[in-house]
Amino acid sequence: MNGPTAVVAGLGATVPPHVLTNEMLAARLDTSDEWIRSRTGIRSRHTVAPGTATGDLAVTAGARALANAGMSTVDMVVVATATPDRLCPATAPEVASRLGLGPVPAFDVAAVCSGFVYALGVAAGAIAGRLAGSVLVIGADTFSTIVDPSDRTTVAIFGDGAGAVVLRAGVPGEVGGLLAFDLGSDGELADLIAIPAGGSRQRSTGPADPAAHYLAMRGRPVFVNAVRRMAASARAALAGTGWQAAALDWLVGHQANVRILHAVADGLGVPRERAVVNIDRVGNTSAASIPLALADAAAAGDLRAGDRVLLTAFGAGATWGSVTLTWPALPAVATF
Ligand code: UT7
Repeated sequence: MNGPTAVVAGLGATVPPHVLTNEMLAARLDTSDEWIRSRTGIRSRHTVAPGTATGDLAVTAGARALANAGMSTVDMVVVATATPDRLCPATAPEVASRLGLGPVPAFDVAAVCSGFVYALGVAAGAIAGRLAGSVLVIGADTFSTIVDPSDRTTVAIFGDGAGAVVLRAGVPGEVGGLLAFDLGSDGELADLIAIPAGGSRQRSTGPADPAAHYLAMRGRPVFVNAVRRMAASARAALAGTGWQAAALDWLVGHQANVRILHAVADGLGVPRERAVVNIDRVGNTSAASIPLALADAAAAGDLRAGDRVLLTAFGAGATWGSVTLTWPALPAVATF
């Protein structure tokens, strides 16, 4: 890309107030705090109350990112989500309207857990191509609305949340700039994590097979592919930037499982303490995962201006993506 560079200008995040602990799950399912903690690293997650939708969380996160950037307008809104408020239309136009952003282009990106990195790529392309001078990129998901409450393999893993960044046009080399992307997919793995019904392949047919409307996941092959693809994608983004893994200050991986994050760090040769981990209190929040991790690390003072950061994700589709950036000098980011 030869046009302007996309630079991070603001960051904000939110989770719904209700906390669902492992103990609460163990009280109603055949699972235990010990199993969930040792197999995933998760202690608790946040879930929305009935009636609260992904768009509601996206509006809060978007407003916080705009406030953090000190901006009240942007030229484009992109919402990465796999749990839109409705199948049709996209969630982004209503989010843009509720944020008072006017008649800007607004659309959803559907790349599930890789959605935030994909949306950053689309937004960076829009800035480089001079389609937009600034873009609000939101990752928001409410997987608690699509998991089967009786399925211990998914209900223990997923949580709800939203995170957002404002990108603005900057110059190459500027602190806060997005550097090199690597994005990819493998549709042969499409059935590993899927909701069978509700789309055009299997239209909603009422209560005939309610289970088909829930998320189904084959955890073991997802785990194996996540480690392999995130490490390979991270290496490609590092090579595109001209950075060695050892030069990274922070590895911010999609928070799917702490064992996946550690395996990716080990594979890259990045010390585990350089991998940002907040899955213990938010679970896997899909497209919200990376901006929630960034907001936590920024609020803790871990992310400092000029730090070399790598974002990497793997998700349903299968999709994966990575991007390198230098961390910008932002006003204090509130914890959520
Ligand atoms: O964001 C991208 C999407 N998702 C992921 O990246 C998730 C990737 N996968 C994983 O994180 C792991 O595969 C899981 C955490 C989902 C599962 O861990 P695992 O070590 O791969 O276990 P497993 O799926 O091989 O299951 C082992 C056993 C099974 O019992 P049997 O068949 O051996 O009797 C499961 O039924 O563990 C059982 N199990 C549970 N037991 C207690 C699965 N979930 C639970 C649970 N509590 N919550």
